[in-house]
This record gives sequence, structure tokens and C-alpha cells, in this order.
Amino acid sequence: ELDPLPPLTPKFSVILDQVCVQCYQDFAPNTVEDQAREYIRQNLENFIRLEFPGTKLNLFGSSKNGFGFKQSDLDICMTMDGLETAEGLDCIRIIEDLAKVLKKQSGLRNVLPITTAKVPIVKFFHVRSGLEVDISLYNTLALHNTRLLSSYSAIDPRVKFLCYTMKVFTKMCDIGDASRGSLSSYAYTLMVLYFLQQRNPPVIPVLQEIYKEPKKPEILVDGWNVYFFDKIEELPDVWPDFGKNTESVGQLWLGLLRFYTEEFDFKEHVICIRRKNLLTTFKKQWTSKYIVIEDPFDLNHNLGAGLSRKMTNFIMKAFINGRRVFGTPVKIFPKEYPSKMEYF
Ligand code: GTP
Ligand code: MG
Repeated sequence: ELDPLPPLTPKFSVILDQVCVQCYQDFAPNTVEDQAREYIRQNLENFIRLEFPGTKLNLFGSSKNGFGFKQSDLDICMTMDGLETAEGLDCIRIIEDLAKVLKKQSGLRNVLPITTAKVPIVKFFHVRSGLEVDISLYNTLALHNTRLLSSYSAIDPRVKFLCYTMKVFTKMCDIGDASRGSLSSYAYTLMVLYFLQQRNPPVIPVLQEIYKEPKKPEILVDGWNVYFFDKIEELPDVWPDFGKNTESVGQLWLGLLRFYTEEFDFKEHVICIRRKNLLTTFKKQWTSKYIVIEDPFDLNHNLGAGLSRKMTNFIMKAFINGRRVFGTPVKIFPKEYPSKMEYF
């Protein structure tokens, strides 16, 4: 059912490289924009502390994981001094009280507590920056997966280029918004990392499987082991495949689209970045969904669980289209993105 693809010409390969690098350059925030996020966090923390002393705000998500867009929302996790977990806290009550406090702050608009979601949050619009902000409580695992993604992004520049390209691609195809029934950017980032781990030779290692101790260290958070090897500068010593993959980023991008349309068996296997060996959907008892993505720490969490049959087909079609578009040599790609990119 897939059209055969012509061989990738050297000239077209260069064009694909440029497309991928451009996605990163056009959408990654600069230093000043990064500092602005930190500044907003600090200001909010100061303000909230006037009413709730001992409150701490941490940035997570794409503001910190190395894959942020200029217009990405600001994900903030709130904790209290001297309190390790949210156990025994009335999170819904705190979120409602927090919303009341934030409504008094003049620079914020549309303050809305959302207490029915799996993770209760306060959402609002920060007027001066034009950024959307989400504050959640004790979202501790998310702080760790943010660090994990950030470590992967630091291993090789191709990781960033590909994750940005994937994000631009999914937004343009309208398959990158979990609140509208598709997958989150976090899920697509996991798909890119999995592809790079399974590539032969691999571009990145499985950081959760590297350790110098005789046994894998155990650092438990909410009952899950959040250990991973984070000394990226030491990878050449501990990862035998370091530097072996020399493919260009454009080759890898087309390789990724081909991997998920021609090679990867969605029915049989789980997209799982915590181990190199293949994991079956059968073993996880996750056989009722076609796209199955395991969270690297919360092993009970399938990021594809919310997909409808229809949305799954829509996503697979977008990848099949992408494979054809990026796999068919043309002289030049349109320089401008379609106008809808302006809204991200
Ligand atoms: P942007 O689209 O640039 O905001 O990317 P993002 O990675 O910040 O995505 P989002 O704001 O949707 O999520 C924020 C963070 O929540 C992610 O980066 C993860 O660290 C964490 N997270 C953990 N589990 C999930 C999940 O099931 N869905 C989503 N969306 N995020 C999760
Ligand atoms: Mg975000």
C-alpha cells in the first residue's frame, strides 16, 4: 500500500538537512526569551509566597527539556518547603485557593482552576509575555522526565534538530494537540528518542540502562525508579557505540518517517525508551490500542491511551504522507511555512 521511494539523492539530502536545522532555528527561544521564562517564574513565586509562605515554583516541560518553542506554554510545578510529597494534601482545595490569589494579580488574565483533570492545574495567561501558564502541584515525575529529555538533547545536536522537526511536522499536520484528542509533544519526543535508540548504529544510548555500579541504582519517586545516567560528558567512556552513527540529520528525518511507516510493528511492540530490548504490547497487556507509548518512569502510563481509532488512523496517514513528501526529491521546498505556523 506504500508507494516505493526513489533513492535519496545527495542534493535532496542537503535540502532535508536544511529543513531540519531551519525548524530548530526558527522556533527555539533565544537566551533572552529563556531568561524571561525564569523571570516570570521568580515573580510568580514571590507573589504567591506573600499568601502561601514556603511555596516553591519549578519550571518543567519544554521550558527546561531542551525542546521548547518560543511560544510554548510555561509549565510550573508547585511544592511546599519541608513537604516531600502531596500525600495528605487537599490538592483541589489548594488549586482553588491558588486561583483566587492569582486573580488578584493584574498582569494575569483568564485565571482558571481545572480540578477535574488527572493532574489538577491552574491555567492563566501572562499578559506581558503573551505566554500561557499551567501550575500543577507535586508533579514530581514530570520534573524527572524533563531532566531525562534534557540529557538526551545534550548528547548530539541531531537530537534537537529532529525533535524540533517532529514538533513542527505534527503541528502542521494537526496531530500534535493532546487536548484535542491527538498526542502531546512529549509523546512525539519519546517517539523520536526511541527511533534514535533503535537506529543501527544508534545515535543515542538508553540512559536508564547505563550505570557504573554493579547493579542499577534505585532512586524511587512516587514508587518508580527515576535513575538514569546523567553524566553526558562521560558517555564516550561508558557507551561503546558513542560516535558510531554518522548519518546526516536529513537522512535521519526521512529514516524516522520510514521507520514508523515501514518497519515498526505497532501491533506487536511498545515505543519504550527505558530499555534497548523490544517490549511487546502483549507483555504490558496494552493490546487494545494501536499506538502504544510507555512513559519512561511511570510504567503504568501509556501516552497513547487516549487515542480514538479515528485519530490513530489520522496520525498514521500523516506519517505516510510525510514519508512521501520528504522522500520524494524536489528542487526546493517552499521557503515560508504555511501561514498557520504563525499561531504557535
Ligand atoms: P510544549 O508543547 O512545547 O509545551 O511541550 P511540553 O513538553 O512542555 O508539553 P506539555 O506542556 O504538554 O507537558 C509538559 C510536561 O508534562 C511534559 O514535558 C512532561 O514532562 C510532562 N508529562 C508527563 N506525562 C505527560 C503526559 O501524559 N502528557 C503530557 N502532555 N505531558 C506529560
Ligand atoms: Mg509545555
